[in-house]
Amino acid sequence: MASSQSPAASDQQTDIEPVGNQTLIIFGATGDLAARKLIPALFTLYRRGYLDESFCIVGVGRRDWDDEHLRGVMEEALGAEAVEHKRWPHFRDRLFYQKCDLADAEGFRRLHQSVTQHEADLGLGGNRTAYLSVAPSLFGPTVAGLAEGGFLADESPRPIRVVIEKPFGHDLTSARELDQELGRYLSESQIYRIDHYLGKETVQNILLFRFGNAVFEPLMNRNHVDQVQITVAEDQGMERGRGGYYDSAGALRDVLQNHVLQLLCLVAMEPPAFFRGEEIRDEKLKVLQALRPGSGDVKEWAIAGQYGAGAVNGEVARAYTEEDRVPEDSRRETFAAIEARIDNWRWAGVPFYMRTGKRMPDRVTEITVVFKHAPLNLFTTVECDGDLCEVVENKPNRLSFRIQPKEGIFLRFNTKRPGMNSLLSPAELDFTYDEVYSRKLPEAYERLLLDVMRGDMTLFTRSDELDAAWQFVQPVLDAWDNRSTKPPRYTAGSWGPPEADQMLYRSNRKWIDPQETGALSGDQLERG
Ligand code: BG6
Repeated sequence: MASSQSPAASDQQTDIEPVGNQTLIIFGATGDLAARKLIPALFTLYRRGYLDESFCIVGVGRRDWDDEHLRGVMEEALGAEAVEHKRWPHFRDRLFYQKCDLADAEGFRRLHQSVTQHEADLGLGGNRTAYLSVAPSLFGPTVAGLAEGGFLADESPRPIRVVIEKPFGHDLTSARELDQELGRYLSESQIYRIDHYLGKETVQNILLFRFGNAVFEPLMNRNHVDQVQITVAEDQGMERGRGGYYDSAGALRDVLQNHVLQLLCLVAMEPPAFFRGEEIRDEKLKVLQALRPGSGDVKEWAIAGQYGAGAVNGEVARAYTEEDRVPEDSRRETFAAIEARIDNWRWAGVPFYMRTGKRMPDRVTEITVVFKHAPLNLFTTVECDGDLCEVVENKPNRLSFRIQPKEGIFLRFNTKRPGMNSLLSPAELDFTYDEVYSRKLPEAYERLLLDVMRGDMTLFTRSDELDAAWQFVQPVLDAWDNRSTKPPRYTAGSWGPPEADQMLYRSNRKWIDPQETGALSGDQLERG
């Protein structure tokens, strides 16, 4: 439970039993993710009391670093505020480095010895987690190396857990191959596939909000809902040399196949019998199994786009094909929009529109459920600026889950405009986390790493979910990977190509502007 206590009151949280007696082995410890996300998240867990004193972290990489070098790099990444914290020295002393070439079985044996030695020195009992922050092509070899090194034979007190970062495969076939490769060594209950969106507080809130209130859930079905829209927009382009990876992936693989479909599952799934990992994952799987494309050819229900030059947040932005490490003639999509249906009793006939893209006007992730109009329009609706009113179309109710920024929930409804007439005006209820809770929301990686250590798989993607998600996007990948022309262009700083708007116009709908759901922060509005 979130606490409304002031952060100054204490750095410690006491809402769960701390985990302890943990060994974390981070493969790819010299990379960006370890310094930017993993170590900061682990330190926060320790500092807040979620992780007790008994742990060690062994960073693994190919570079010639030693313990002190790793500690120095992490100090730099964490910054003075963290490093001056009274708990830092204890944490620092439990950070170790081991050089290991992932192709070298002998290296894994040495790693095993060194991990076992650190555990013995610190009195730890061998509860191990291996975090694979390495290139996807190295997932299989690393797990094979863990077997060679003797890590998989150590089953007491429990078998090692292995955390894998996306992408899990490049398409349906390669995802299945990877699954088989991992399955040769590990059981499904050892594999934690991270989709960091599931670690976001506001993403978890979708289920708690839906199944913790009696008011909204009875309306969440085809009788009352006209459409659902999911937007994951980013203002970023190809910063930090991401062009190389991105050009082999594109928006569909990078964000839609995983993060967006996970959001769709959470907003559409049935209530589970219990709020527990397997039951929740079973319900998510059913959504993916019932997912169907919109009607017609792929090009009718799946729209790609690629950004051209433009301006984002008042700054000039170059075209995608001029970004570092992107080929000039790239046909890769940086925007993807899909219309889908969920063929089940709850949702039959309700369109789900999903879109994601780079270099859009702002960073906004949200889900909006648009309800049907009241059955009879008895009133005139007006929108007013001071005393100046204009008659507008009646506005249907909307419920928005704002994932980021300005995390919260937004409800639009209609009320009587004060006066001697019976005029309706749209109004809103807006819950914003920041205004209610003073404590900063936990970072996704904090929650996910804690869950791995306590063995809770709820927020991790199961193999069958992944397979169903790949099955859904595969026809689009086939169409887009083989296209002979570039995808439609959109100007950097716009909401995507006109084709994406036309997809909705066909059924007399349009994309919801995030400004209307309170999704943009004050800063963003001023910039806008
Ligand atoms: C990652 C993608 O999975 O998610 C990135 O690889 C994307 O391209 C990122 O920028 C978005 O995550 P967030 O948490 O910033 O919305």
